[in-house]
Amino acid sequence: MTGIETLQQSFETYFNHRHFPSFPSTLYDPLEEFLSNSGKRIRPVLCLMGNELFGEIKPDAYHLAAAVELFHNFTLVHDDIMDKAPLRRGKPTVHAVHGEPTALLGGDVMMVVAYDYLNKIDPSFLKKTLHLFNKTAKEVCEGQQLDMDFETLDHVDLDQYLTMIELKTSVLLASSLQLGAIVGGASEGNQQHIYEFGRNLGIAFQVQDDYLDAFGDPSKFGKLVGGDIQSNKKTFLMIHALETAKGDMLAELHQLMKQEDKNKVEKVLAIYKACGIDLWANALKEQYLEKAFLHLEEIAVSKERKASLVELAYYLIKRDK
Ligand code: IPE
Ligand code: IPE
Ligand code: MG
Ligand code: MG
Ligand code: MG
Repeated sequence: MTGIETLQQSFETYFNHRHFPSFPSTLYDPLEEFLSNSGKRIRPVLCLMGNELFGEIKPDAYHLAAAVELFHNFTLVHDDIMDKAPLRRGKPTVHAVHGEPTALLGGDVMMVVAYDYLNKIDPSFLKKTLHLFNKTAKEVCEGQQLDMDFETLDHVDLDQYLTMIELKTSVLLASSLQLGAIVGGASEGNQQHIYEFGRNLGIAFQVQDDYLDAFGDPSKFGKLVGGDIQSNKKTFLMIHALETAKGDMLAELHQLMKQEDKNKVEKVLAIYKACGIDLWANALKEQYLEKAFLHLEEIAVSKERKASLVELAYYLIKRDK
């Protein structure tokens, strides 16, 4: 088993139980079902790795890992309402099956239960971890708002896109690592480097997510392929296409974003391909991966201890789901 799988399994052993009461079942059963259909559990694994980099994994790291996973799942349930997404982890979304009101409330209560987990940790770590958790949670909301605002803008540049994905996605990966590092006893300097490693890796991670949303294999991806195109999301693919397409192709792209077209996804994908998006995506991911590794190198622990984070980084940017 790889380092990733070992930690995924030990987190699963800790996390795989009921998290909510049974009454009212109309609220809680959909949440139990959603949580048990587990995703990749990247954030809890990052939290455990953040601790393991500096010492033996403490029980507090598991409580923090559960808090970030619950928070993440809450954002997914609400994100799927916002993105009108029909599928998540290969199943119909919570709102599609149970309605938006239940999905809203369910997301809210999942976030509250995340705080119950935070409340389990040693009080000496609580102030710092709660501050980081809350700062991150607010940033995720800011990123999600920008993501939606961008849907109706004609022009978004690469820097604006990077700011948006940093907020909606990468800060939570960065914080998961730092939370683990805090309870692992890391120095301030090492905590900053692990955070920056996660922040840059998180950008590469969202670039891959956006790539898969366009070109993923529907049988593996677990989400509706083409969803971002349908909602006019300003992903790096769209930004690159708008910047490189010329003449008729550019006119067609603008047209596709304005008018209904039953073959919209297919047509936009053809434009992406013609604009050489593959090479560009790889270059962008590599650029952020390199930045991430520079910070990992700065962390004052042996190279051997960093091996599992390197493995995880490659897995995240090459994943197919
Ligand atoms: C999906 O996150 C949301 C993004 C920030 C791209 P994951 O890809 O980690 O989702 P799960 O938890 O594995 O399903
Ligand atoms: C989601 O970004 C980020 C959060 C859920 C905070 P996306 O909208 O791209 O995530 P997916 O693709 O639906 O998982
Ligand atoms: Mg979404
Ligand atoms: Mg979204
Ligand atoms: Mg996505």
